[in-house]
Formats: sequence, structure tokens, C-alpha cells
Amino acid sequence: MEKIKKIGILTSGGDAPGMNAALRAMTNKASSEGIEVVGIIGGYSGLLNNKVKTLTPEDVSGIIGLGGTTIYTDRCLEFATEAGVQKAVQTCRELGIEALVAIGGDGTFRGATDMTIHGVPTVGVPGTIDNDITATDYTIGFDTAQNTALEMIDRMRDTCESHARVNIIEIMGRDCGELTLNVAIASGAVAAAIPEIPFDADAAVERIRKLREEGRRGMVICISEGVFTADGKKFSEVFEKRLHDELGLDTKFARLAHVQRGGQPTIRDRKTASVMGVTAIELLIEGKSDLVMCEIDGQIKPIEIRWALAADRMYKKKLKDNDLDSFTAEQIDEMEALCDRRAAEIERLYNVFESIAK
Ligand code: F6P
Repeated sequence: MEKIKKIGILTSGGDAPGMNAALRAMTNKASSEGIEVVGIIGGYSGLLNNKVKTLTPEDVSGIIGLGGTTIYTDRCLEFATEAGVQKAVQTCRELGIEALVAIGGDGTFRGATDMTIHGVPTVGVPGTIDNDITATDYTIGFDTAQNTALEMIDRMRDTCESHARVNIIEIMGRDCGELTLNVAIASGAVAAAIPEIPFDADAAVERIRKLREEGRRGMVICISEGVFTADGKKFSEVFEKRLHDELGLDTKFARLAHVQRGGQPTIRDRKTASVMGVTAIELLIEGKSDLVMCEIDGQIKPIEIRWALAADRMYKKKLKDNDLDSFTAEQIDEMEALCDRRAAEIERLYNVFESIAK
């Protein structure tokens, strides 16, 4: 097997704190193996538009503690087409890029598989604040985002206590409620709503009414951005109005939004990014591809991307007709077991929250 001489690295989809730490680890590891590194600027669209820059250990020195991604990112629609993939492959050929690492979420990994199929070995590294990639227990950026959200909520709690107000806080995470639940538990919220579990709004209103009657001043309520009413309205906004109108409470609404995505990565994110980054380079050197780095029970393990994507669609109930055709019965059983485990984990967390939300 011929040794790889040049690899490309890109970040794609929503940025996440820790992406730079992964970039640094990969650049330094590859360079110590005598491999040239090219940073693709602005995600997959950088490959379509030939926007790249050579990266050396000097270039990535000092970026480990920076939020965002220094090679930028985007959500590239053109890359989702066959012509787009062909163009990206062509750029790799022209630049002598023999293998790729793509850091991002599920959309990023679909792209990674497409590149591998078209002859550019690619591995994925999970980077998203949502922690919503079913195959891995952890995605880079999650810890920083939950700590940032918690810090903001702690600050809001100070002022809502002073004024006897109720703060309704909308938290990012797309369709995954783990970020919301974790900060709800950690901030001592009195109610939390997430996409995965039906929310008993009447019971929550009654709880809040009773708490106020008993003299509770400030109260925090955490609601995932992915929770909507039956007619498609943001539940966070609807619930705030209900508390105000029905209980006559002085309510304040806060949408944390992108503040959760920025800022210095925590040690958890820097370390995980570094270990996953080094592992990704080692795998490419060994000639492996079409794998995504996963953390399973505290260990970093590579998983086949197509399996990870199918398991993800299964968990998110987005499987299409032929999605499972190429898998064995045993592989499908494994996916189902993983989905059951994920559902049980979130339910357990929700029950823990509910039992202490007072
Ligand atoms: O996937 C990360 C994430 O921040 C989600 O939590 C959120 O729903 C989405 O990206 C926001 O995307 P954009 O940055 O494109 O507004």
C-alpha cells in the first residue's frame, strides 16, 4: 500500500467549539507522519470552488482554544447533487488530495460517504453542539454549548429572583433534547420540554402556579427549539404567553440561539477533538475510510458511516424504503438495540429531571 502524501480537512454544517482543536490535532499528527495537510476553506463549497490553503503546525499553533472554525464552514446545497460531488472529486484530483477528513454532523457524513464512493477515501469526525448523532455517545462542541447555556441561565436566574419573574428559555439542539435536559437539570429549572417526550403543559402550569402560591419568586423553564405546537408554532413562545395570561406572571422570554455555538471550547471538547482527530489520521494512514469516529462507553471507536447514518435515520424515524436493504439481520438488530438504548437514556434523564423539578 502506498503511503498517503496529502490530506484535506474540512468543517461543514453548523460550527461547534472544538473544531479548531480537531484541526490542530490532525494537522500536527499528519505533519509528524510526513503528510501534507490542506485546509478546505468554507466546507464542501471550498472543494467546489477550489478554495484551499496549506496548513502547517505553525498555522494551527494557538487555535486549540478558539471557538468557531478557522477554516470556516457552510451548508453547501450544490454538494448534495451528483454534479457537485464530481466537481469536488475533480478538485481533489487536481490538488493531489488523496484523502479527506470531514468534521461536522449527519449532513457532513453523507458527503463523506459520497466522496469515498467516488474514490476519495474520507473519514468523519462528529462536531455539532446538538449531540444528535445516534451512533456516538458524544459530539464535539456539546460540552461547551451546555456550559455556555448554563452560565447564561444562571445569570438570568439572578435577575428573575430579584424581580420575582419567570424566565422561559429556548435552547438549541434541533430535534434532540439532551442539551435542554442537561441544562434544565443543572440550572434547577422547574419545567422542561424536549422534542422526544410529550410535555404535559397543564401539569407544568399547575406546578408553577402552586410554587408561586407557596412563595417561589424566580423560576426558570427550559424549552428545546425543536418543540412545536400542533399548528406549528414555537412552543417556547406559546408557553410563555400562557403563563403570563393564565397565571398573571411577570414572564421574560430568552432565546439563547447562536450564543451557544461560540466561545472557547472546554477541556472535554478540546480533548475529545484531539483524540478523535489523531485517530482519524491514523485510520487514513492504515488505508481505511468511510468511517466516523464515535465515542462509545468512553472509548473512541470508528464506525462504518453508512451504518451510522442508517441507525441515525432509524432513531429519528426518517428511514426511507430501501435504507436497510444492504444490511444483514444482525446489523439491523444492532441498530434497533442502539435506538432503544438512546430512547431509554433520554427517558431516564427526563424522569430524573421531573422527579427533582420543584
Ligand atoms: O446543528 C447545530 C445547530 O446550532 C442547531 O442547534 C440549530 O438548530 C441549527 O444548527 C441552526 O442552524 P443555523 O446556524 O444555520 O441557523
